Amino acid sequence: MRMTSRFSITGPLDGASFGAVVRLRDGAGAAGFTAAAEAEAATLRRALAEAHGVLLVPGMGAMADDPGLLLRASHVFGPEVENYRQTGMAPNMVHPEVPEIFVVSNIPPVLRAPPALPDPPLTADGHLPVQYPHRRGWHTDQSYRRPPPDVSLFLGVEPVPRGQGQTLFADGIAAYETLPAEVKARIEGLDGIHVSSSAGRRREAVRAGTPPRALGPLEQPQRQPLVRTHPETGQRALYMCEYGQMDWLDGPIAGLEPGADGEGGRLLDLLMAHMTQPRFVYVHEWTAGDLVIWDNRCTVHAATWFDAENLRRVMWRTTVSGNPGAVYRGEAKSWLAA
Ligand SMILES: [Fe+2]
Repeated sequence: MRMTSRFSITGPLDGASFGAVVRLRDGAGAAGFTAAAEAEAATLRRALAEAHGVLLVPGMGAMADDPGLLLRASHVFGPEVENYRQTGMAPNMVHPEVPEIFVVSNIPPVLRAPPALPDPPLTADGHLPVQYPHRRGWHTDQSYRRPPPDVSLFLGVEPVPRGQGQTLFADGIAAYETLPAEVKARIEGLDGIHVSSSAGRRREAVRAGTPPRALGPLEQPQRQPLVRTHPETGQRALYMCEYGQMDWLDGPIAGLEPGADGEGGRLLDLLMAHMTQPRFVYVHEWTAGDLVIWDNRCTVHAATWFDAENLRRVMWRTTVSGNPGAVYRGEAKSWLAA
């Protein structure tokens, strides 16, 4: 970090082996942070890369009153910020004034339910389960699109108290680096087949023999490298999702025996269990005003259960794209009509 930077960047994150906390040295709040981030975009982008793809910026609560600040901060991390009104998101899930903000909330008008509790709810030694398959729902955002997005920003507008409603992150770079050589050789050049969870190709549906629905031209399954090369650092990272966001009918891994219990599924189970070992995972317990920024090209994440009957939760997300790496160069967007 340059000594002239206005930012203090310290890592790793609490209890984790990666990630970093970013603070403005003079503590000028969300407006000051956003202006400094625009002035020092390269510093923050390098910090995100050096932290293996997760940054925490505390104290951004004023963004909830001035949502344009979140949009400006998002532009620091890449050339394009998705406008959800243009990409067909249900209107109740889009911020009414800033359509680049996707609202994740259990209260009206969004009414999004939290994930189920793991079974059992705690590990044998009493901890929050993080490792797949005990922990379900690990994914990287919008991997069912080509080119996939780069970075997501997630603001805790009204998070739930600590101990529930966490966001979990796993370091795909460390996970790749620690794979046995024979596994690295086995997965070299392989592609995962990703598809939206709404496509009816989830693992359970395929296992149950549920007939798949016909998919339109803009929702076709998309191949993605199982190992992504980061366009800014050249580092390699595991890149995959699990039950809900892979194509379990024709995949999950192209060229390997398909299906819920085929060779491709067994390989994906092995890789996902490796990647989500506690030593590679950061558990974010939310405080209102936390802004968490993650790089979808080299991390996976998962949401956890919270008591939606008794608690309100409001979170805002933006999605940044435009720098997916050489393998996607020149491609049209798979989810938009030409
Ligand atoms: Fe996500």
